Amino acid sequence: MRNIIITGGAGFIGSHVVRLFVNKYPDYHIINVDKLTYAGNLANLKDIEDKPNYTFVKADICDFETIMGIFRKHNVDGVIHLAAESHVDRSIKDPFTFAQTNVMGTLSMLQAAKLYWESLPEKWEGKRFYHISTDEVYGALEMTDPEGIEPPFTTKASSGKHHLAYGSKFFTEDLKYQPHSPYSAAKASSDHFVRAFHDTYGMPTIVTNCSNNYGPYQFPEKLIPLFINNIRHRKPLPVYGKGENVRDWLFVEDHARAIDLIFHKGTIAETYNIGGFNEWKNIDIIKVVINTVDRILGRKEGEDMDLITYVTDRAGHDMRYAIDSTKLQKELGWEPSLQFEEGIEKTVRWYLDNQAWMDNITSGEYEKYYESMYANR
Ligand code: NAD
Ligand code: DAU
Repeated sequence: MRNIIITGGAGFIGSHVVRLFVNKYPDYHIINVDKLTYAGNLANLKDIEDKPNYTFVKADICDFETIMGIFRKHNVDGVIHLAAESHVDRSIKDPFTFAQTNVMGTLSMLQAAKLYWESLPEKWEGKRFYHISTDEVYGALEMTDPEGIEPPFTTKASSGKHHLAYGSKFFTEDLKYQPHSPYSAAKASSDHFVRAFHDTYGMPTIVTNCSNNYGPYQFPEKLIPLFINNIRHRKPLPVYGKGENVRDWLFVEDHARAIDLIFHKGTIAETYNIGGFNEWKNIDIIKVVINTVDRILGRKEGEDMDLITYVTDRAGHDMRYAIDSTKLQKELGWEPSLQFEEGIEKTVRWYLDNQAWMDNITSGEYEKYYESMYANR
């Protein structure tokens, strides 16, 4: 029996990780610790909420005493830490919340784990603190080949029609951190704290840095679900700048599988980059999404292209992210299971089939947020 805290389990990626662990490991007790901010949604976990090996605790990771109590009550021996403020645009408007949750919240989790585990006779034996981070901490890569070149590697994710790289440099684990947004600065700081707890106290930690995830249950302020919903309702699609920025996309269930593998087989104190060598310019991905939604809804493919609306660019908008996940693929044998075209098809179908999930979120407070976000663009 292992007792594992998963923080942020009611969010997008966290809900996939909780689902995978609860279903795959009936002998583990999974304790989902989530504050249920605007991004947390228990509807993401309806299918597993009654499982005997699952407990939900509504708590703020910054509340050290409460977190300490959870470690003691459940005799916790593993942590998979995902809880964070995760949206770059929000961090530009409100950096304090990002520093508080992402930095102080992570510190509170680390300190609680340290005090609890040090108090046990076996101390660090069999313990693991796994911190989920992002490729954004490495900063931005230049787009040296705007037309795209053959990438050095392809994976299942990049094996479809499009498999281009927009430069010859990639994010590797040994790169210096150069975060640009308040979000990535806060994530970078939290990564440093995690490594400091290993180097100073000997805590068994692991950090992974993943590229952009897409798939079911993503909050519709992020590019793909926002655009799917807007296309459905024939609302404008706000493309930042020229739409030329490049992101490296991974299906969320492939990220969850990597987390499972690394939690169990990864080497303590190591960092692993997670990504599928699957770079896309925003505008190209947007066209794929428009065509897919139109086709599935029985509209003429591409008829909603005129919804594309170029708006003022995001401040400090990072040009290109591209993860090199060779280490994870070689050392632990992970690779993406889905081609990008398959993943997008699955994703679009999921949002269109789950309109009630979407409507529940996009009414009320969300509407005000969305309007204020785009009011002065
Ligand atoms: P999300 O915003 O969908 O979910 C975040 C979850 O954390 C929510 O359930 C929220 O309620 C919870 N939370 C926020 N503040 C909290 C607090 N103070 N205490 C307890 N719970 C709190 O985020 P996501 O996209 O699922 O990202 C999860 C993690 O993965 C984050 O750490 C993010 O930095 C990282 N990440 C995300 C991506 C991506 O593409 N989405 C890629 C790489 C890494
Ligand atoms: O790279 C990993 C990161 O990916 C994660 O750490 C973050 O938590 C996650 O939010 C994501 O960050 P991005 O900023 O890349 O994701 P987002 O979906 O906000 O935007 C993707 C790209 O699309 C980015 O270049 C900005 C652009 N964009 C986004 C929105 C919401 C638009 O052009 N219009 C939009 O309305």
